[in-house]
Amino acid sequence: MNIRGFYKFIFLLVSILSAQTTSAQRFERLEAGVYLIRYGEEDLHTPMKYKEPALSEALEKIPPAESPFDPKDIQIRINDRGCIVELPLDKDENIYGFGLQMSSFRQNNLKRRPLVNDHPLKDLGYTHAPQPYYISTKGYCVLINTARYTTFYIGTNRKNAAYDLSQEDQKVKFSTDELYRSLGNDENSDLKIHVDIPGAKGISVLVFSGPDMLSALRRYNLFSGGGAIPAIWGLGVKYRLKADSKQSDVERISEYFRSKDIPCDVIGLEPKWQTRAYSCSFVWNKENFPSPNAMIKSCGEKGFKINLWEHAFTHPASPMYEEMKKLSGDYLVWNGLVPDFADERARKIFADYHYENFLKEGIAAFKLDECDNSNITRGDLNWSFPEMTQFPSGIDGEKMHQLLGTLYQKTILDIYKSNNQRTYIDVRASGAFASPYPAAIYSDTYDSLQYIQMINNSSLSGLLWSPEVRESKTRNEFFRRVQIAILSAQTIFNSWYLKNPPWLQFDKLKNNTDMLLPDAKKNEEVIRKLLNFRMSLVPYLYTQFARYQKDGIPPFKPLILSFPNDSAVVNLYDQFLIGDDVLACPVLGESDERMVYLPEGNWYNFNTNEKLAGGRHYKLSFRIDEIPILIREGCILPLAHPVESISPETVFDITCKIYGTNPKPFVLFEDDGISYDYEKGILNYITVSWKKTKGKIERKGAYKGLRYNVIAWERIL
Ligand code: GAL
Repeated sequence: MNIRGFYKFIFLLVSILSAQTTSAQRFERLEAGVYLIRYGEEDLHTPMKYKEPALSEALEKIPPAESPFDPKDIQIRINDRGCIVELPLDKDENIYGFGLQMSSFRQNNLKRRPLVNDHPLKDLGYTHAPQPYYISTKGYCVLINTARYTTFYIGTNRKNAAYDLSQEDQKVKFSTDELYRSLGNDENSDLKIHVDIPGAKGISVLVFSGPDMLSALRRYNLFSGGGAIPAIWGLGVKYRLKADSKQSDVERISEYFRSKDIPCDVIGLEPKWQTRAYSCSFVWNKENFPSPNAMIKSCGEKGFKINLWEHAFTHPASPMYEEMKKLSGDYLVWNGLVPDFADERARKIFADYHYENFLKEGIAAFKLDECDNSNITRGDLNWSFPEMTQFPSGIDGEKMHQLLGTLYQKTILDIYKSNNQRTYIDVRASGAFASPYPAAIYSDTYDSLQYIQMINNSSLSGLLWSPEVRESKTRNEFFRRVQIAILSAQTIFNSWYLKNPPWLQFDKLKNNTDMLLPDAKKNEEVIRKLLNFRMSLVPYLYTQFARYQKDGIPPFKPLILSFPNDSAVVNLYDQFLIGDDVLACPVLGESDERMVYLPEGNWYNFNTNEKLAGGRHYKLSFRIDEIPILIREGCILPLAHPVESISPETVFDITCKIYGTNPKPFVLFEDDGISYDYEKGILNYITVSWKKTKGKIERKGAYKGLRYNVIAWERIL
């Protein structure tokens, strides 16, 4: 071997040895409290490539905190399988996240596959909003910056190395569940989190420091671009019509709501507004909607916004088809093109068409459907593009599936943002760094407990979940679902397969044959009361979204986020906080009763004003026409007189309900509710406070309008 060959051999040997394993190099500081380790040759298409700019100033305002790890604690190996990342996991450390998980809350001792799917599998991690991301009660978040299908092992497997044999569990097991249960960090102090990223030649790992769980989540949300602040009308009530509805049905339903004094802000149209759907033409079906622009205008005059259903798959009948052809994947879906939204040229074609044909005519929002993936459990429902699809940008089908939800949102939301117009859309898939997108995620699944679980899980992943209401088996079930919906990110009735409002007939078949309930009038009274409460909560809710945008604090919070040291809430996912002081405890099933855990402090039953000491469980009862919430002592709750819909001119008449003897001030956020002018400081903060016997209102800011008018104060002691 000549000298040249020898040196080549040595170089090859060193690069093979170093390629197998490397201790983490060092942290790069991306933003205050946000650290990154990168190793090897990263993919071109990753979540970081498409994310919105970080809110650096807001990140600087969070009390500084060092990284929870030393770089050497993060081991990255690259071999011919791909990339493996090993991260620390302490005994008794609680892990959450992975996006919109629906079958579990605490993620310890689980194998997680956060892959996008339209009917998530039984707790393997498949979800409408997959994120290679988790958050720890130790006060940090980790995000693996990949769009590849990835598997996380949360303390489930031990590597081949010496370990403390005394920790072994010698108990004989008599069930397969016990036999095959994963190892866990609750009992084992030497287990770690392992991440398997097949095919990757390199990876970057982001660490968001705390020092506590809420601060770490705030850093993630602010690094993503801040939380979402929807148009204020989006916090009203949305009603989606049946898929084959016509313009006359829009008139019928809009008239119904207004004549019955039932609040509604948004009417959603489903597929047959288009000449072709499945796949989409994006052209008004003039048979069903002869004068769409006149309809939009007349709905607007009655206080209704119009939201259009669609998906991205572009039918040959679409005016976009020819231009989009060269910017699409090499497989079709429902014979439609799959636009390469990883390419800004495709996003521009799609956006320009939507602006010219819909936004300019007053369409306020869209429902972005089928941007997830075919049902992983069924071979006969394989409607979407395969993972081996190739796109002109170089992205493959696997990575496009993981990114399509966020790229599709970005495509649509950038149109509204560039026109200084806020919106609030529906989307069926989302993912990493989606915090700034004013989009509520929905699903065809319909389990009430999972719906509440997803309110908690979405919060820990910077997402918004919409527990939509459709048909129901019983009256109780229906109104319990409405109670969840009025306490969540979006109150929506998705009647895409129902001819009449579901409170007039809960059963799908009878509803569609106009066999309405004899006591429908009674139901209208209940629905009016529940939806009026939603409208009265809008000022409080809107202020929580303003905090989400400015400070990264999620509007809805699992109790673990506010009480991370309370062992009673480690796996509590059927209650949640709205803001800091409203505790939601939805009732499920046919009974009015449920066990409620009250964390430390004193809490008031909103319906009875009964004061209860926290730190323990109670059996409480809530009727179907009551609101299943408790209010924390010291809260000033600004409740508005309900309005039927929210216009730019709406002024909320507010009664401040004061809970307890020593209330803390509440700061309301006020702006025009429909533009991005708040980014230029065109906003007000209204501080309402109570001293001994007198209420005080201080309005500060540059917004010249008036959104809130405090008319009364009510003491609850
Ligand atoms: C489904 C969607 C439903 C409804 C339906 C219309 O994919 O999840 O909410 O929009 O399409 O075809």
